[in-house]
Amino acid sequence: MKENRTDTEVHRMEPEDKRILFKRLLDDIAAIVDSPEDVRDKMQDTCQLIMNKIGYYDWVGFYLVCPDKDRCLYLGPYVGDPTEHVNIQFGEGICGQSAETKKIYVVPNVCEVTNYLSCSPKVQSEIVVPIMKGDKFLGELDIDSHLIDPFTQEDEKFLQDAADLFADVLLLNSHTYIK
Ligand code: SME
Repeated sequence: MKENRTDTEVHRMEPEDKRILFKRLLDDIAAIVDSPEDVRDKMQDTCQLIMNKIGYYDWVGFYLVCPDKDRCLYLGPYVGDPTEHVNIQFGEGICGQSAETKKIYVVPNVCEVTNYLSCSPKVQSEIVVPIMKGDKFLGELDIDSHLIDPFTQEDEKFLQDAADLFADVLLLNSHTYIK
C-alpha cells in the first residue's frame, strides 16, 4: 500500500504541471541510467522512483525479451504486488500485444478489453511502452493503475522518454540482465 497517496491530485494536475514533474523525473532517471550500478539495479531504482513520485501508478515494472524462448517476455525488476505473469508470449495480454506490434498500448479500463492478463483485481487501467533500439525490440515498461483512465498524452510521452533512456543500456548489457 502506498503511503500518502496523492493519486487524485496528481491525476488532476494540469498538463503543464505534469510536464514539469515528468521532466524532473526524467532527469533523475537519466542520472540512474548513467550511474555505475548494474543494469538490474538501474531498472529497480527507476521503478521505485516512478512508483514513489506518481501517486496513480500502482505497479511499475519491466518485461524483457526472453533470451532462450521464441517470442516470449519475462518479468524483470518491478515494484508492486507480485504477479503470476512471469512469462508472457508475444500477442498475449496487453504486454504481449505491445511486444507483437512494437506500439504503445493504453487501456483506460481493463474491464473493456478481452485480451488482457489480470495480475490483481484492483487494477483498472494499464499502459505499456516498448523499449526499442532502432528496429530492435528489447522489452517494455508496464504500468498499472487502480484508477480508471488516468493516463494522458503526458504520461505516454514521459514513459516513452523513460523507455528511450534505457535502450542503450539494455542493448549493451543484454548478456547480464538476461537471467
Ligand atoms: N496486465 C498485463 C500483464 C502484466 S501484469 O499487469 C503485471 C497484460 O495484460 O499483459
